[in-house]
Amino acid sequence: MIERVGVVGCGLMGSGIAEVCARAGFDVLVHEVDAEAAERGRDRLVKSLDRAVVANKLNPTDRDDAVHRLGFTIDLSDFADRDLVVEAVIESEDAKVSVFRTLDKVIANPEVILASNTSSIPIMKLAMATSRPANVIGMHFFNPVPVMNLVEVVTSLLTSEGTEQQVGAFAAQHLNKRVIRSKDRAGFIVNALLIPYILSAVRMLESGFATAADIDAGMVEGCNHPMGPLALADLIGLDTTMAVAESLYDEFREQLYAPPPLLARMNEAGLFGRKAGRGFYEYKR
Ligand code: 3HC
Repeated sequence: MIERVGVVGCGLMGSGIAEVCARAGFDVLVHEVDAEAAERGRDRLVKSLDRAVVANKLNPTDRDDAVHRLGFTIDLSDFADRDLVVEAVIESEDAKVSVFRTLDKVIANPEVILASNTSSIPIMKLAMATSRPANVIGMHFFNPVPVMNLVEVVTSLLTSEGTEQQVGAFAAQHLNKRVIRSKDRAGFIVNALLIPYILSAVRMLESGFATAADIDAGMVEGCNHPMGPLALADLIGLDTTMAVAESLYDEFREQLYAPPPLLARMNEAGLFGRKAGRGFYEYKR
């Protein structure tokens, strides 16, 4: 039974995952690399809870209870008593493999489930860094996590049915998310479709035949999307968009997944989107 949850990483996605788990009544321990990063993550999380209160989505008592269920650590050994750990560090295979290797060492109980919020990295690559591949699974949330209704559950060739059932039930019944299931291919269902669309918008901008505002307005006004592809890339983060495109390109070697040079240059310039204050648009921080 899942009672104690661990979340590794408290960036955009990790803080959202920790928030929804704490709001659902779970004891949540969050790991960050140092005290400053933990403090920044905690601030982001508390601001999001406050926003939910202002929007009448959460009452102030439930907000306080959720805050009390959250703990922070900079030592992964503190995860020894967790039942489920969701890894949400940067979208880098090396970084994720290293987290899985460490979690496998510090968590003695072989029943504990190790999930990854990876957007695109095949789960098998993470599973094989552990001694419990049957308990390793993808649990892919969407940004902003408290608002978006979906979780992709991704099973590798070695994930057990029991792990899939527990994680599916946790997401659907406790976190109240719609669960869709995908086999273990880079990008799973959503990013395999979304990333080529975003990359096409970047190529359109790069080739100079429309402005960013017009490309986005085209999809918002013409197709009723809540935001256009370039604004969405800024929300996801251009670093993450680039990393996901690279994983997809690595896996399938198809041109539609190849990151356009403009995206690479913007990443080199540190224009990561909303979180950096500038991407395709500028943002007040
Ligand atoms: N908790 C609960 N509810 C919250 C909240 C919080 N912390 N923050 C905001 N909300 C609610 C608001 O009250 C509002 O609810 P309402 O519709 O009932 O009034 C709703 O969420 C929308 O919030 P806002 O009004 O503040 O904002 P917008 O209307 O401008 O919408 C948006 C913002 C939700 C980001 C919307 O533009 C959107 O849906 N964009 C697309 C997002 C998307 O596609 N995400 C997926 C990215 S891909 C990904 O994550 C995968 C990765 O692997 C790359």
